[in-house]
Order: sequence, then structure tokens, then C-alpha cells
Amino acid sequence: MSSEEESRPSSSPTMHFVGKKADIVKAGRVTKRVNGCRDVLVMYHQGQLYALDMRCYHAGGPLQNGDIEEFNGRLCIVCPWHKYKITLAEGEGLYQAVDDPTVRPLKTHWRSKGVKQRIHKITEVSGDVYVTLNDSSEAIESDVYQTEKYRTVPLNA
Ligand code: FES
Repeated sequence: MSSEEESRPSSSPTMHFVGKKADIVKAGRVTKRVNGCRDVLVMYHQGQLYALDMRCYHAGGPLQNGDIEEFNGRLCIVCPWHKYKITLAEGEGLYQAVDDPTVRPLKTHWRSKGVKQRIHKITEVSGDVYVTLNDSSEAIESDVYQTEKYRTVPLNA
């Protein structure tokens, strides 16, 4: 275990140190390989910290290079590759549905595809930030891009 990625001893063995909050706030976003097995994007936006799988559930795009925008009142990261929108808090894929394609002008509204990106828990202790991996056994689409095969995009690209 590297000094950069140490597990917090004591009562919370699954919390992994990812950095000082001040450094993450300054950088806005950092990427870390957590517990040697999962590439996680940690973001600070509007006073809030978020952690999610680094590669987009659609085709593995580098979410660390995406813009943060609000859609239908929900903060999303917009994947730089094909512009998929993923809610920061839940990992839901959002899309615009057309009510009736025969009616012009088209009327659209936002819908959720459900959780597509694995979101991880953030804990802050005395200025240190920890990630607890979401180890739910339920498969989430972004899991596909956490294998060696997809680690072609460098962590800090
Ligand atoms: Fe992210 Fe296609 S890889 S939108």
C-alpha cells in the first residue's frame, strides 16, 4: 500500500485516503486508483465532494475531462466523448425524451435511464478526504471499464 493511498486504520477499514480536502478543492478534480483496483474521479463542486467511477459507462470516456452542468435541476458531469449526462450524486444517466414525435415543435423532457455510473462514498475527517468504494454486488454499467483492458487512459489525462 502506498503512502498516497493508505487505508484508514481503526473502525473504518474500507475508507481509503484520496487526498487533503484543500488540495482537492484547489484542483477541482483528482483521479485515484483506490485500493489498487478501482479508478475513481473525486470532484469538488459548489461546496460538495463527489466520487464516481472515472470512465464513462457508455464507452469508457475520461469523465475527469468533462464539464459539469445542470440539467432539470440536477448536477451532471457531461462526458467529453459523446456528451452523455451523468448525475454527480446518483450516477444516473439522463436523456431528453420526446413526448410525441408527430407533434411539432417537438416537446422534450428529461428522463433517467437509472443508475449507470458507480458512485462511491466520500468522508471528510479533519481535512482529509476518504473514499469508501461502493461494493454493491448489483452490476452497474461503468463496472465494465474498471478492468485492465480499459486502463489505456492515464489517470491524470
Ligand atoms: Fe461517454 Fe460515450 S464514452 S458518452
